[in-house]
Order: sequence, then structure tokens, then C-alpha cells
Amino acid sequence: MSEIEAKPKPLRWGIIATGNISIKFAKDLLVDPATRDATDVAHRIGAVGSRSIEGAKAFIHKLETDPGTSTECQSQLEACKTYGSYDEVYNDPDVDVIYIGTPHPMHYANAKRALEAGKPVLCEKPFTMSLSELDGLIKIAKDKNVFLMEGVWTRFLPIMYRVQEIIHSGKLGKVRRLFADFSIDFRPDEHPYSWRMIDPALGGGSLLDMGPYPAVWATMLLHHHPDNTSKKPPTLVFSHQTIYARSGVDANTRWLLEWEDVGQALCVTDMTAHGTHHGCVIVTCEKGDLILDGSIARPSTYHIIMRGEDGPSADDVKETFEVPVPAGVGMCYEADEVYRCIKRGEIQSDRMPWEESRMVQGWFDHIRATSGASGTG
Ligand SMILES: NC(=O)c1ccc[n+]([C@@H]2O[C@H](COP(=O)([O-])OP(=O)(O)OC[C@H]3O[C@@H](n4cnc5c(N)ncnc54)[C@H](OP(=O)(O)O)[C@@H]3O)[C@@H](O)[C@H]2O)c1
Repeated sequence: MSEIEAKPKPLRWGIIATGNISIKFAKDLLVDPATRDATDVAHRIGAVGSRSIEGAKAFIHKLETDPGTSTECQSQLEACKTYGSYDEVYNDPDVDVIYIGTPHPMHYANAKRALEAGKPVLCEKPFTMSLSELDGLIKIAKDKNVFLMEGVWTRFLPIMYRVQEIIHSGKLGKVRRLFADFSIDFRPDEHPYSWRMIDPALGGGSLLDMGPYPAVWATMLLHHHPDNTSKKPPTLVFSHQTIYARSGVDANTRWLLEWEDVGQALCVTDMTAHGTHHGCVIVTCEKGDLILDGSIARPSTYHIIMRGEDGPSADDVKETFEVPVPAGVGMCYEADEVYRCIKRGEIQSDRMPWEESRMVQGWFDHIRATSGASGTG
């Protein structure tokens, strides 16, 4: 095969919505896959859909004028189609796959229309507002034989694979417990009620927005642990939500999961008080601890502290390891997964299977139903 023939055919993405995360995702699509040693994938932004044509054009302008955008990517963006509706993107024959970056209450309707138009879908987390909505989407994906995946990008980061390998190898002994905290003081009182973190109609509250991150570390390290031989989901032992009085959504959430043969995970989210970046995830094992530093969505540093026979002491040595994302934010890795799954003709990803999105969505349904937070169901 000649070198030209060997080049992967670009996957043409249709981006739905032009907010904060869509820009980050789009920028990552423009990152040269060679920077992450991926020679089998290629991405293009084929079209952008917004509720207004001005929004779509402004999105492309923002990307074109970004100092990080190369001249080659600028000419690619010039060819990108802009639409003042989402439907036009779903129905564009030159679009191969849809990325959904709308607020969570819109995910179900957006993904449904895209799948019904026969387009594969990568949908931002949280997948939907309820398990029943998610099951509806899975049914359409199966009926239409079309790919569908929740965009929990942290699953695909190199550091996730590295940390999984260490914890699952047993090098630190049996897992005892995991603590995962995603807390940021967003100062909600200083925002208008219409802000999506506050307004129940836009899926407000800490759990739905931030909860997928503690959940992904608990799932990848404990649910996937070889000691969980039955692969049985954990018991949701208890949960608590503090209600943000202004709108009735949750200000913070805590929930405890227990995997019978592995250990416990205490998960925390908060939109009213900061958490630490020095230990956003702590995995305590029999012989030592693994501690992740940085943002829980994309930490780049981990430490290993082995304990002596008599328990922790001031002499315990802390070893530090860096696993940075070479270029971009790191959302490019989930885009690569979508590329490979579609190329293989798969309708779901082994690394982000529907059953695990269902498991997490089920926790969120239960937690919200029992606390009485607004926007439930
Ligand atoms: N993976 C991650 O790291 C990550 C990070 C942040 C957020 N997220 C997820 O991504 C989704 C979007 O978050 P975001 O921070 O990008 O939100 P955002 O900045 O508010 O953008 C949301 C976009 O959705 C569109 N939209 C459609 N209907 C809307 C409505 N009724 N009200 C407001 N916007 C509407 C708008 O785009 P148009 O006007 O162009 O239609 C808007 O710009 C959420 O589900 C969130 O949980 C993921």
C-alpha cells in the first residue's frame, strides 16, 4: 500500500451548540493526531449548528482567530458549513458523526434526532436527565444500528490507563477505599438565575454536571478491578444532597458506593466550595496510597506512597510521576475512540459501554429522587 493510500480518511464532525465545551472539543479536533502518536485517525470539523446562524459563524471565527490554530486548520475551517439550526447538521450528507454540547436537558432530544437521521453520536456528559431517557436512546441506536457514546473523556486519557494498570496489578495490595472530589466554588449567588448550573430547567446543580468525574474514577479503578469478578454493580450505600435554596437544585452531593469484593468509593461534588487539587482522587490500598493531583477531569500527576509494616510514618517515601496530555485539552482521545469504533462498524464502545453509562445514570436518578432536588425525573 502506498503512503497516500495508508492515510486515514477524515471523520467529518457536525458540532451541535457553540458554548464553552463545544469550543474546547472543536479545538481538540484540530490537534494533529501525530502529537499523540495516533496514526490511524483523522478528524475534520465539517459543520456547526447553533440556534442562530450568527452563533455558528461566531464559533468558526473564534476557532479561526485562535492563536493556536495553524494555517492548515484555518483553511479547513473556511470550508466548514455553518447552520442556524441543529436539524440541518443532522441531515447534512457530508457530516459523518454528531457531537452534542448542549445543556443536559436537551441531550435526549438532540441525540434522538441525530440517531433518527442515521448519524452516530458522541453526547456530552451527563448522557441524559434520567435512565429512562438513556434507555430510549439506546433503543434507537440498536434499532438503527448506529453508534452512540457518552463523552466521559477522562476514561480515555493516558493517565487513566496508567493508574488503572497500577491499581489493578495489585502492586499496592488490595484496594480498601477510594475518595474522589470534584468541588469548585462557582459563587452561584453572583450569577443570574438563568445560568445553567442554577436553573433546574437547564439541569442545574453540582451532581449532574460534576458527578460524572468522581464516578469515572470509581468505575474505572474499582468496578473494573479484577477482584470484581462478578462485574456486579456496587451498592449505593447512602447519599446526601444539600439543596441550593435559590433554585432547589443541589449545591453539593456526597454518595458512598460499595463493591462487595473490592472496596468502597466516597464521591463528592460541590459547586459552592473549592476542593483540593492535591489529592482530587485518593486510592488507599493495603500497602500504600495512590494520589492524583490536578483537576479531576484531567489530572496529569500521580504520587505513590508505600507504607511501612507498622502503618504510615513520616519516613514513607513519596514518588511522583507525570503523565501530561501532549497537545490540546485531552478530549481528542475520546474523539479517536469514536473514529475507531465507527471504522470497525461498532455501535458502542468497549471502553465506554452503554451499561456503564446506565449504571452511573441510575446512581444519579436514585440520589436525586431521594433528596428531592429540583428538576428530578
Ligand atoms: N466534558 C467536559 O469536560 C464538560 C465540561 C463542561 C460542560 N460539559 C457538558 O457540556 C454541556 C454544555 O456545557 P457548556 O458548559 O458548554 O454550556 P454552555 O457554555 O452554556 O453552552 C451550551 C450551549 O448549548 C446551546 N443551547 C441550546 N439550548 C439552550 C438553552 N435553552 N439555553 C442555553 N444554551 C442552549 C447554546 O448553543 P447555541 O446557541 O449555539 O445553540 C449554548 O451555547 C453540559 O451538558 C455539560 O455538562 C462537559
